[in-house]
Amino acid sequence: MQAGCSRQQINTNDVVHLSHKNECMAYPYQLTSLEQYKADYKKSVEDPEGFWSGVAEHFQWRKKWDTVLNWNFKEPKVEWFAGAKLNITENCIDRHLATLGEKPAIIWEPNNPEERVRVVTYNRLHKRVCQVAQMLKNNGVKKGDRVCIYMGMVPELAYAVLGCARIGAIHSVIFGGFSAQSIADRLDDAKAEYIITCDGAYRGGKDIPLKSVIDDALIGNKTVKKVIVYTRTRTPVSMIKGRDIWWEDEMDIAEDQVEKNGVVTFPAEEMDAEDPLFILYTSGSTGKPKGVVHSSAGYMVWTTYTFVNVFQYKPGAIHFCTADIGWITGHSYIVYGPLCAGATSMMFEGIPTWPDAGRFWDIIDKHKVNILYTAPTAIRSLMSFGLEPLQGKDLSSLTTLGTVGEPINEEAWHWYDENIGKKKCPIVDTWWQTETGGCLISNFAGITPAKPSWATLPMPGVQPVLVDEKGEEVTEKDEHGITKGNLCIKAPWPSILRTTYGDHERCRTNYFATYENLYFTGDGALRDEQGNYRITGRVDDVLNVSGHRIGTAEVENAINMHAGVVESAVVGYPHDVKGQGIYAYVIYNGHHGDDNLRRQDILLTVTRIIGPIAKPDKIQFVSGLPKTRSGKIMRRILRKIAEGETENLGDTTTLLDPGVVDEIKNGKL
Ligand code: PRX
Repeated sequence: MQAGCSRQQINTNDVVHLSHKNECMAYPYQLTSLEQYKADYKKSVEDPEGFWSGVAEHFQWRKKWDTVLNWNFKEPKVEWFAGAKLNITENCIDRHLATLGEKPAIIWEPNNPEERVRVVTYNRLHKRVCQVAQMLKNNGVKKGDRVCIYMGMVPELAYAVLGCARIGAIHSVIFGGFSAQSIADRLDDAKAEYIITCDGAYRGGKDIPLKSVIDDALIGNKTVKKVIVYTRTRTPVSMIKGRDIWWEDEMDIAEDQVEKNGVVTFPAEEMDAEDPLFILYTSGSTGKPKGVVHSSAGYMVWTTYTFVNVFQYKPGAIHFCTADIGWITGHSYIVYGPLCAGATSMMFEGIPTWPDAGRFWDIIDKHKVNILYTAPTAIRSLMSFGLEPLQGKDLSSLTTLGTVGEPINEEAWHWYDENIGKKKCPIVDTWWQTETGGCLISNFAGITPAKPSWATLPMPGVQPVLVDEKGEEVTEKDEHGITKGNLCIKAPWPSILRTTYGDHERCRTNYFATYENLYFTGDGALRDEQGNYRITGRVDDVLNVSGHRIGTAEVENAINMHAGVVESAVVGYPHDVKGQGIYAYVIYNGHHGDDNLRRQDILLTVTRIIGPIAKPDKIQFVSGLPKTRSGKIMRRILRKIAEGETENLGDTTTLLDPGVVDEIKNGKL
C-alpha cells in the first residue's frame, strides 16, 4: 500500500531518524478536514455497511466478505465481514515487505539506556514471526489453542503475539505485574495449554522473576503442556524436563525450517473474519476478571483506521505508545494498529522515572519520535518532578501527543501542551476500553478541535447516547448547555468485544442487559452543545488506578483471604498521581502485631492474590461497616469519608448501626 515511497536502506542495528513528511498518500481512508469528518460520520451512521466495506477494501483478504454486518444486542451477536478469510499477520507484515521490507517496524529501547537499541525491520519481523509460528507448530500448537504470554517488554513479546496470530492460536497476554494466583486463574479460565514467558524482566531498577512466578502459577495446573522460556535477564530458573523449553533452542530449529536459500516462508493460517484473535482479561464489578474476546477482521480494520486517523499518522513517522503490551493499549497501538498501517512503532522496556525522570524525553530526542501516546498518570508523575528533567531536551521532533486510560485533569493537559508539545502539537484525548478494542471517542490530531479534559467527538461508526438509571435517553441540558448521563453506545463498531471467554451469558449481563439494545460502557459522561463528550469516570464498582481497571470486589476478595480479616470494603479516593487511590476499610480479628504490621500482612496478601497493582494505598481498621438492615454495605458513605467529606454524608438513618459512621469518620487516614 505504500507503493512508490522510496526511502533509504537502513542497517538493522542502526538507530534511524526518519522524517515526518507526508511523502506519499498511503491511507485513502485518512480524514483530512473537519468537513470530511462530519461527512464521513454522517455516512457511517446512515450506511455503516457501505462505509466500512469502503475502508475494508484497503486491507489484504484471502477472500472478501459475504455480508458486512449482522448484529443484535439481545444475545448479543455481532459479526463484521462474515464470510471473509484473512490472516491479520499478512496485513501487519507480508503486504509491506515489497515496499517497506528494510524499514523499521519496531524500534526497541531497552530498560537500561546503556544497552544497545534494537531496530527490527519489516523483513526481520517477518522472519521472526515465521520462526515463532514454526516453533509453536513444532510444539503441537494448533489453530484455536490458547497460548498464555507472560513476558517483559522485549521485541520477542511482539513476535510471540504475532506468531500466535500467524497460526491462528488465541493469545492471552498477561501483564507482568500480575501474581501467580492471577495467572493460575486466567490459565484455568482460558484452559491454556501453552505458555511463553521470560526468565525475568527488567523494570527500572528491578529484575522481576517471571519464570518463577509462572512456576508458582503452575502448581496444581493440569492443562499446560509446554512452557517456552526466552532469556532476558539470565536469572536462575528451574526448567522442568518435558515441559519447559528454551526459546533460543526452539527458534534455532525453526530457523532452519522457515528459511531456505535466503527465502523465508511460513504460510499463515487462513482465518475466518470472526475467528477469535485474542483474549485479554479485565476487571469488572464482580470478583472475577473477564476474558474479553476480540475477533480477527473487525479488530484489524478498527485499530488500523483509528490509528491512522486519530494520530494522523504519516508514513515514516515514529509512533511511541508507552503502554505495556499486557494491556489493550499495547495490543492495539503498539502492535496491531501501527504494524497494519506499515508504521514504525517504538517499544520501551523501562519506566518513565528510571534512571531519572527525563527518560521519555531522552528517548524522544534520541529517536526523533513524532507521536507520543501516554497515560495521564505518567504525565502527572513526571509533572511532580518539575521542569528540571526537561532541561536541555529538544523534543522538536514531536508533532502529536495523546493520552489514554483515565480522565486527564486540566492542569496535566496544559502542562503536557506547554512543556512537551510546546503548544504546537495537538493533544488527542482518546477514550476507549479493553472491550471496545480501539478508540471510540477522541479528537483527530489537528483535524477536529481539542478541548482540554474532553475526549470530544465520536469516531465514525460510533453512536454514543447518554441514559438515566432507567435507560431513558437524557436530552435535557443544564444552564451551561451540558447533558449528563451514563454512557452507552447504540450500534456495533467493528472491534466491539464478541464474547467473554467461555461464558457468553456473562458478556450479555455485563454489557448488554443493563439497558435494552445498548452497549453499556460503565462510564458516566457529559455532553456539551457541540456534541463533545467528557468522561467523568466509572459509575460501577470499578476503580481506575493509574489508568488500570481494578474491581473493588476483586480487591475485597483478596483482603478477605488474609487470615485475620473478618470483612472489608474497598472504595476509590482522589489521588494526585494515580487518579484514584484504593482505600480499604477492614474489620480485623487477629492478635498478630500492631496496625502497621497487620497492614503489611494485608498488602502482601493482596500482592500474592492479585499483584502489586491492586495494593490499597490506605487501610483503616474499623470495628464495623455501615450496613443497611438488609446487610448491604453503604459504599456511598465510605466513598465520601475516603474523599475527606465529613458533613454531608446523606441519609444515615436507614443504617443498622449509625454509630459506626462516627467511628469511621474519626479514624480516617
Ligand atoms: O473509565 C474509562 C477509562 O478507562 C476505562 C477502560 O479501562 P481499560 O479497559 O483498562 O482500558 C484502558 C485503555 C483503553 C474506561 O471505561 N478511560 C479510558 N480512556 C479514558 C478513560 N476515561 C477518561 N478519558 C479517557 N480518555
